[in-house]
Amino acid sequence: MAADLYLGLMSGTSMDGLDMVVVAFEEHQIELLHHRQCPLPDELVERLNLLCQPQTLADELHHYALADRAFAEFCAAAVSQFLADLQLAHTDICAIGSHGQTVRHAPSAQPSYTLQLGDANTLAALTGIAVVADFRRKDIALGGQGAPLVPAFHQALFSSSEQPRAILNLGGIANVTWLPGPATGVMGFDTGPANTLLDGWFRRCHPEAPDSFDRHGAFAAQGEVQQELLEHCLADDYFAKPPPKSTGRDDFNLTWLATRAQLTGNQLSEFNPADVQATLIELTARSVAQAMTNWLPNLPETLFVCGGGAYNPLLMSALTAALPQCHWHSTAVLGVNPQHVEAMAFAWLARCYLKKQPGNLPAVTGASRPTVLGGLFLP
Ligand SMILES: Nc1ncnc2c1ncn2[C@@H]1O[C@H](COP(=O)(O)OP(=O)(O)OP(=O)(O)O)[C@@H](O)[C@H]1O
Ligand SMILES: [Mg+2]
Repeated sequence: MAADLYLGLMSGTSMDGLDMVVVAFEEHQIELLHHRQCPLPDELVERLNLLCQPQTLADELHHYALADRAFAEFCAAAVSQFLADLQLAHTDICAIGSHGQTVRHAPSAQPSYTLQLGDANTLAALTGIAVVADFRRKDIALGGQGAPLVPAFHQALFSSSEQPRAILNLGGIANVTWLPGPATGVMGFDTGPANTLLDGWFRRCHPEAPDSFDRHGAFAAQGEVQQELLEHCLADDYFAKPPPKSTGRDDFNLTWLATRAQLTGNQLSEFNPADVQATLIELTARSVAQAMTNWLPNLPETLFVCGGGAYNPLLMSALTAALPQCHWHSTAVLGVNPQHVEAMAFAWLARCYLKKQPGNLPAVTGASRPTVLGGLFLP
């Protein structure tokens, strides 16, 4: 039997680029065939960033609608080029699983909501491929957080029948999945900020730098952790809240950081910039370590990490120091490149949709029941 091919598209909170993967599914086998990352055009990133911050744009709805179409056109062009380079036809692909770009995530609003843009009608029409999109809002409609969604995929891909495993995704936000091994009961939740604050602060301090992030933590390495600032950051209520929980740039952004800094009696601008970067590394490591220690049923000796943060050696050393009893490995050890995992999850969720299989885990998101996620947009 020939394998079914699906395309997964993911652009996370960091907006570092669109990750595209072609994944082959056969019965219980999942095989990554191809990956490409396409940087988002600067102008699109600027527009998306403005939409992520409330009250920065007059006629926000107009700008939302423009970005919705522009992001989809960008994705369609990237997909078409990717497939052409791979010499694959659009008819070779069963469906595209498209996450879209999150511009708001407010699971605690009344009523709660989450918003991903990237018009799936446009993407389907321009690529000629069926698109499954809008994965988060059904879970929200059922009282869930709508996030994180990757734990179900982590279970399909990484679980071991012998021992529990924990997977940490260091994206814009960090989320952890606990896989119980022979027992039942997958857990998962967002631990708090990861690269979103690191990237935001780095860009503010280096607006002209060619990199939009602190490559290998070189800037942070020049600074020293500021304990008082760290303590005020860690005192945010989010960290003490038990799961289910999820968060985003709505909660953790540079305005939040400035407010936490003021609690020390100083303005953020009065701190040495590299010290702030070092403190944000420590904040990520400490909040992850606390969350894993507090909320996971137990802490496996070996922990696996994916997402872009896996490439930041300073962050990885801070995690090792925060949880000295554990060994960290990249998911590459399990055969999956850390940068590919999230996009693969959305290819998998598209397939779940077509097979009418639930994609959410109520124990993770807090939804009232398992459900098929997303909607189908035919070309
Ligand atoms: N070599 C590196 N050194 C330091 N940081 C890196 C390196 N490579 C990637 N990163 C960090 O990883 C980030 C991208 O990670 P990733 O793509 O997993 O996040 P994301 O797109 O926001 O995903 P998510 O949806 O999981 O939040 C970059 O913005 C950067 O901060
Ligand atoms: Mg990314």
